[in-house]
Amino acid sequence: MVEPLSKTGEIDNSLNKNPVDVIQQGMFFNLFTEGLELSPNLSEVYELALAYYESRILTKKELLKSSAYFVKVGSAFTNHFYICTGDPVKIPEYSSSRLKSFFINNQFRTGYSTHGLFPYRGKFHPQMIKALINIMGIKPGETILDPMMGSGTVPVEASLMGINAIGIDASPFCRFMAQVKCDSLKIIPVCLDDLLNKYESIFWEFNSCSKNLNAQKNLFYNNNNFAETVDKEKIFNLVFLVFLDSEGYAQRSKRKSHLEYFRSILERYIVAVNKIIAVKNHLKLKPANTKLLQGDARKIDIENNSIDGIIFSPPYSFAIDYLKNDLSHLKYFEKDISKLNQNMIGMRGKALKEKYHIYLDDMDKVISECYRVLKSGRFCTIIIGTNDSQISKALKIPKEDVAGLNKIIKEIGIAKGFSHVRSLPRQIVGMANTMRQEYIVILQKKEK
Ligand SMILES: C[S@@+](CC[C@H](N)C(=O)[O-])C[C@H]1O[C@@H](n2cnc3c(N)ncnc32)[C@H](O)[C@@H]1O
Repeated sequence: MVEPLSKTGEIDNSLNKNPVDVIQQGMFFNLFTEGLELSPNLSEVYELALAYYESRILTKKELLKSSAYFVKVGSAFTNHFYICTGDPVKIPEYSSSRLKSFFINNQFRTGYSTHGLFPYRGKFHPQMIKALINIMGIKPGETILDPMMGSGTVPVEASLMGINAIGIDASPFCRFMAQVKCDSLKIIPVCLDDLLNKYESIFWEFNSCSKNLNAQKNLFYNNNNFAETVDKEKIFNLVFLVFLDSEGYAQRSKRKSHLEYFRSILERYIVAVNKIIAVKNHLKLKPANTKLLQGDARKIDIENNSIDGIIFSPPYSFAIDYLKNDLSHLKYFEKDISKLNQNMIGMRGKALKEKYHIYLDDMDKVISECYRVLKSGRFCTIIIGTNDSQISKALKIPKEDVAGLNKIIKEIGIAKGFSHVRSLPRQIVGMANTMRQEYIVILQKKEK
C-alpha cells in the first residue's frame, strides 16, 4: 500500500519508491476494490470522490443494482450500464457537431432514461444525483424529497431506483415537465410509433386550439382510438411536451419550422421512452411512486420527521428569472405570471442588495422546512454555486472578502440544527465553456 502522506500531513518520500512500481500499480488500486470498472468519460475529481464513496458504502449487490459510477462489478454489467448504453438520445441530423459530441461524452452522466426529454436550464447531472442517493443511504421503499425539483431529475432517478419521491416546484410548467418524465417510465408504449405516422394531423390539432389545454386534450382523445389499456393522459402529456419543446426550438432557431421540429422531437422522445421501457422490462425494474406538486418550498405540506432524504438545488443566484425563460410554455398553465413571481426565490426585491437579503430570508425558511420534515439521522444535500461575483456586486465589497453562498447556506443549516458532513467542490463547464464553481453541501439531521 503506498502511503504518500506522513501522519503530520507532510509528503513522505523516504521510501524512495521505484517509479515503475508506482506507475504500473496505478492509483485506482489504492482507491477501489478489484473488479470494479468505472463508467467511461469520468473526468472530474468530485465524480471520482462519489465513485469512491459508493464503492465503500454499497454492498456488491447494491453496486450492481444501483451504483452510478460503475459499469462492471466483476464480470457482470451494472444496471447503470444497461440504462445508459446504446444511442444516448436520437439527436437530429442537423445538430451541430458540438451538440452531438456533448451527448456522446455525457452518455453516462445525463440525457439517459427520460432525462433528455426537455432541455432545462440548471438541470442536475442525473448520474451525480444517483450517487448522492446511494451515499445518503436511501433505500428502495423509502421516500426522498426535492422541494425545488425543476425538471424532476431527483424524482426520475429515485423512481427508477425503487425509491418513492415527492417533488415540489413553484412553476406549474416544471411540475408538468417532471410529471411527464416520471410518467413516461411507466407508459405502455404500444401506440407511440403510430403517433409518429400521424404527426402532421396531431400538430395542426394542437395548433388550432392553442392555449386551451382541455380542448386540446379532448380533440386528441377523440381523434386517436386508444385501447382501454392505454393511459391516454400520459400519452397526451408526452406529446404536448413535444409541442412545447418544438415551439421553443422554432422560436430560438429559424432553421426549421415548428412542424418540422415537432416531428423530429416527437421521434426523439419516442426513441427515448421506448428504450427506457425496454431496459426497465429487461432488468425487471419497478419504478416507485412519485408525487409531484406545484408548491412553495418555504411552506411544505408534509408531516414532521417523515422524509428519508432530501436533495435540492435552489436558484443559483438571486437574479435568474426562471419564469421568464419558460414564459412561452407557462402561458398554457397560468394566466397570471406576476402571481407566480411572488413565490419565486431570487426574484423578489428591486436593487441587487435587497434581492440578496430577501433571497437569504427565503433560503432560511426553506432549510427550516427541510429540517422539520426530515427524519433524524438522515441527510439533506444542497447543491449551490458560490456566486461570489454577484454577492460582491450586491454588497459592494471585494470578491476576496465574500463568503460564498455555499458557506452561508451551510451556516444556515448548522443554525437550524444540522451538522455539516462535507462540502464537495464541483466545476461546472457549460456547453459554451463558461465555468462556475459550485458545492455539494451534505448536511445531517442529528440523531435525537
Ligand atoms: C436550479 S433550479 C432546480 C433544477 C433541478 N435541480 C433540476 O434538476 O432540474 C431551481 C428551481 O427552484 C424553483 N423555485 C424557485 N422558487 C421556489 C419556491 N419558492 N418553491 C419551490 N420551487 C421554487 C424554480 O422554479 C426552479 O425550477
